[in-house]
Amino acid sequence: MFATEIDRAQGKAGLYRDLAASLAGLLAGETDAIASLANASGLLAHTLERINWCGFYLARGEELVLGPFQGKPACVRIALGRGVCGTAAQRRQTLVVPDVDAFAGHIACDSDSRSEIVVPILDGGELMGVLDVDSPEKNRFDEVDKEGLESFVRTLIPMVDWSSLLRDGRGDGETGRRGET
Ligand code: SME
Repeated sequence: MFATEIDRAQGKAGLYRDLAASLAGLLAGETDAIASLANASGLLAHTLERINWCGFYLARGEELVLGPFQGKPACVRIALGRGVCGTAAQRRQTLVVPDVDAFAGHIACDSDSRSEIVVPILDGGELMGVLDVDSPEKNRFDEVDKEGLESFVRTLIPMVDWSSLLRDGRGDGETGRRGET
């Protein structure tokens, strides 16, 4: 059973420190990448307040494909450079969007989302995917959230076998689309 050791009464910086420590404990010893990302998204959804969607999009060649997440069913494929996720992935840079309606090209998967943050996941300089967290409130994410979620991703990266998730010829997996050879 998972028992969270996160003290919600403390400030946000402390919350994110606890979150990263909790993630490390939760994933320790697990080798299945899908299971680890699923639990990482569950931990975020269980810990962060005022969010409506959190999860992963995984790099598959020139696009991102939906990975483990918590929230409403979402768009499956996002081209690099499109939407907030594709832009953060292409720039390899965290994007904080205080108002999604003011972001040209925002992809409205969940109409409840008003603001969001996307953190790229880079392993040895190579793009593995992004972490996307959405909120039903404008201006939900500030610099502390940015640093906290970047730290969450830094903790996550060495704990996941990303090569097992690659499906575009870079890894051992099959091609990403059903029916393709
Ligand atoms: N936020 C996205 C699309 C993904 S959903 O929000 C889950 C974007 O514009 O990239």
